[in-house]
Amino acid sequence: MGFEITIEKTQNSRIGQFDPKNIGFGKIFTDHMFLAHWNGNEWTNARIVPYGPLSLSPATSAIHYGQSIFEGMKAFADKKTGQPILFRPRENWKRLNRSAERMVMPVVPEELFMDGLKSLIQLDAEWVPKTEGGSLYIRPYMFATDDFIGVKPSETYTFAIFCCPVGPYYTKALKIKVEEEFSRAAPGGVGFTKCAGNYGAAMYPTLRAQQEGYDQVLWTDPLTHTLVEETGTTNLFAVFHNEVITPKMGNTLLAGITRDSVIQGLRELGHSVIERELSVRELKDRLEAGELKEIFITGTAATLIRIQGFGHAGHYHEVLEQGDSSVSDGVKNWLDGIRLGETEDIFNWNERV
Ligand SMILES: Cc1ncc(COP(=O)(O)O)c(C=O)c1O
Repeated sequence: MGFEITIEKTQNSRIGQFDPKNIGFGKIFTDHMFLAHWNGNEWTNARIVPYGPLSLSPATSAIHYGQSIFEGMKAFADKKTGQPILFRPRENWKRLNRSAERMVMPVVPEELFMDGLKSLIQLDAEWVPKTEGGSLYIRPYMFATDDFIGVKPSETYTFAIFCCPVGPYYTKALKIKVEEEFSRAAPGGVGFTKCAGNYGAAMYPTLRAQQEGYDQVLWTDPLTHTLVEETGTTNLFAVFHNEVITPKMGNTLLAGITRDSVIQGLRELGHSVIERELSVRELKDRLEAGELKEIFITGTAATLIRIQGFGHAGHYHEVLEQGDSSVSDGVKNWLDGIRLGETEDIFNWNERV
């Protein structure tokens, strides 16, 4: 099975408006986008067109009933050749399909995902920033397009990919609030998917945390609010003297691709990494005992960022002043080396377009 992708190139490239020294995050989009249509039976009309508005019925099913899922991934400019390198794109493809299955949406064939992605990146390759800390953020997504009122799975869908050049998402260590009132996900729910509703539902607790002076929420388990899970858009690692601990996966957390890469990198660098339950109590006790060296978080957008401190039950606990960033620095450099094509890609994670 092959997918023929038609390409309509833009007549008005916006590349001239793009200042690689002042990129920001998520504000400027590349010249083209990829679209495909699920007609109830098969994927059709795979095409690349100039980036621009989509026309939708007011009754579009995704808007009302939430069948809408997405992915976030990146391409980096090879330090030596400048050519785009996609980082572990097939992991995003697999995760998109795990979300699709849970939301009763059609699976995207690997060939459609990869061919659409690679053709788009090839066409917009000039947009991949070559500046320090810059990358091309790539947003594959799918949403229900039936114009129909009634709660049932849509018969038709759009799968799309667009891209934006980005700089760092966060530029400083973060303060996070351990969330004890609100929950992001529950057992049996959709926490392990990247469905749009997970993010909409997190905005109110996040806003509350920001009003209290924090940058992000640190979600805890929904039943007891005593076990650490993840932040709004990242997974979390706690570094102790002889081991690194990260909360084990379950169906209330998103299986981060950066998390998996960092676990493998830490092990490569000789650290012991344990995936297990991590309680807020343990974090507090071991911080007080001087055993907690650092906490850091990982995600495609955020990359790897240290935690300044965390708030819990009305008290703030400073972590950063423990001052040892050797573990996070080490693994960040290791990962950057691979993603930028500077060091040997021992796990074959990079794909060139
Ligand atoms: C809730 C949540 N957790 C963790 C992550 C990190 O996942 P990844 O490393 O694949 O970007 C993300 C980002 O996609 C996320 O939205």
